Amino acid sequence: MTKAWWKESVVYQIYPRSFNDSNEDGIGDIQGIIEKLDYLKELGIDVIWLSPVYQSPNDDNGYDISDYQAIMSEFGTLDDWDQLIEEMHKRDLKLLMDLVINHTSDEHAWFIESKKSKDNPYRDYYIWRPAKNGREPNNWESAFGGSAWQYNETTEDYFLHLFSKKQPDLNWENSNMRNDIYKMIKWWLDKGVDGFRMDVINFISKDQRFPDGDNPAGEQYASGADYYMNGPKIHDYLQEMHHEVLQHYDIMTVGEMPGATPEEGVLYTGKDRNELQMVFHFEHMDIDAGPGGKWNVQPWSLVTLKDILSKWQEELEEDGWNSLYWNNHDQPRVVSRFGNDQKYRELSAKMLATTLHMMKGTPYIYQGEEIGMTNVNFNSIDEYRDIETLNMYQEKIANGWSEEKIMNALHSKSRDNARTPMQWDSSEHAGFTGGTPWLRVNPNYKTINAKAAIENPKSIFHYYKQLIALRKKHDIIVYGKYELLLKESAEIFAYTRTLNEEKLIVISNFTDKDINFTIPSSCKDYSSSKLLISNYQATDQLEDFTLKPYESRVYHLSK
Ligand code: NOJ
Repeated sequence: MTKAWWKESVVYQIYPRSFNDSNEDGIGDIQGIIEKLDYLKELGIDVIWLSPVYQSPNDDNGYDISDYQAIMSEFGTLDDWDQLIEEMHKRDLKLLMDLVINHTSDEHAWFIESKKSKDNPYRDYYIWRPAKNGREPNNWESAFGGSAWQYNETTEDYFLHLFSKKQPDLNWENSNMRNDIYKMIKWWLDKGVDGFRMDVINFISKDQRFPDGDNPAGEQYASGADYYMNGPKIHDYLQEMHHEVLQHYDIMTVGEMPGATPEEGVLYTGKDRNELQMVFHFEHMDIDAGPGGKWNVQPWSLVTLKDILSKWQEELEEDGWNSLYWNNHDQPRVVSRFGNDQKYRELSAKMLATTLHMMKGTPYIYQGEEIGMTNVNFNSIDEYRDIETLNMYQEKIANGWSEEKIMNALHSKSRDNARTPMQWDSSEHAGFTGGTPWLRVNPNYKTINAKAAIENPKSIFHYYKQLIALRKKHDIIVYGKYELLLKESAEIFAYTRTLNEEKLIVISNFTDKDINFTIPSSCKDYSSSKLLISNYQATDQLEDFTLKPYESRVYHLSK
């Protein structure tokens, strides 16, 4: 068991556009984040992952970067950023920057050069291919709909964009490009950043034959994904990046990796592999998607959820490390998705938090999760801002979906569910801005807001605070071995963690019914038991009991 600060940390993700606006332009900004650092310190987190704040034309809210070494004007200046990191370090908080290096914006200087002519020195910084039979080079699709290729009049050929056409993919085959990226990473590290979350980093190596994908408009991922997800040279590139830059700094790295399996997870995060420390996999985020992908929303099953999370826990037990998350800026709000955001909002939010935070790995909290923010049900497409949502709407209308069917899908899955402004208090626009918010605030802000949560000692906020504090106190929460109990139960998610002579048992009811629980024999052999945390009243004695709706309990057992 190798100890490390990044294994013992809790990370909080900030989506800056929606966090806190200090200058009344309706858009969150860096000074707004500085204003809220004491709130985050109070919660007890150690690290902030900041979604992109770099210069960007905002086709995909900052995930389309036009200058890696400048700050988006709407968010502030580099001086503001310097002040942010200084204020964070003063409070012993670490800063994880988002690193988007699979693609840039089409307004990045490299691309502006690249598209000018076939002999431009920056030409090969991007991926260009000639037309095939008068059409796109192959049938790969963009994650945001339509072909992944865009025609360029000047050079009479196509460039690849796995996301929007304003997000051309970088050509990692080109060593000059790679070296420029490494230089940029080093520049940020020398400014004092404490690590990176790497955007779709397992997409950077494309199969150079560029074959047609065989799942056109079909399965979970866009057609062509088999030829760039975990692509042929991905491990070479990550090892090179580690060797050239990362190894020289004591930092935290986490790679966003759609389509990664636990076997690959070990390759990406294994101790001696010299790649990354953690990955964000998506297997548990995909459980409510049917054929055709995320918009075909299906009922999910607890047995599948447990299978997936347990498989990752077990596979990375000996080598590698997990990141634990329910939410981020691309996913619906967890209390609406896997909990009950009506009658049992508080109880189910606490139950979900317990289930996740007691697992082995580094937990991530997405802004607003700590106060139980919910999905939003905007009733018109005009209220939405996200490019994926807007493109999907057009595409589904063209495919004959009814307005009602589309809106239902958006209510469950639109990325804007996570992006409505942070709810600070019950004043107008939830205290997020004194101006007009870029995306409307969820109308439930009068009751669900940070101020109310802080004032109520029984709130979800205080519960998260307790979970974080427990992790700091008990090594077993960080390092104990995980074992799933009641694999077949469709109602209860229960597991143990074991470290030397100690054991934890975590028991959660995922339903709104009373469910009986019998203590497993592996937990009977301990002389003392103590209730570490629960979202109901309970005693220290572990014995058979009836779980109430969404009840969750954690017992600490010792010999
Ligand atoms: C993953 C990011 O999380 C998402 O928000 C973005 O749209 C894509 N990568 C493209 O950068």
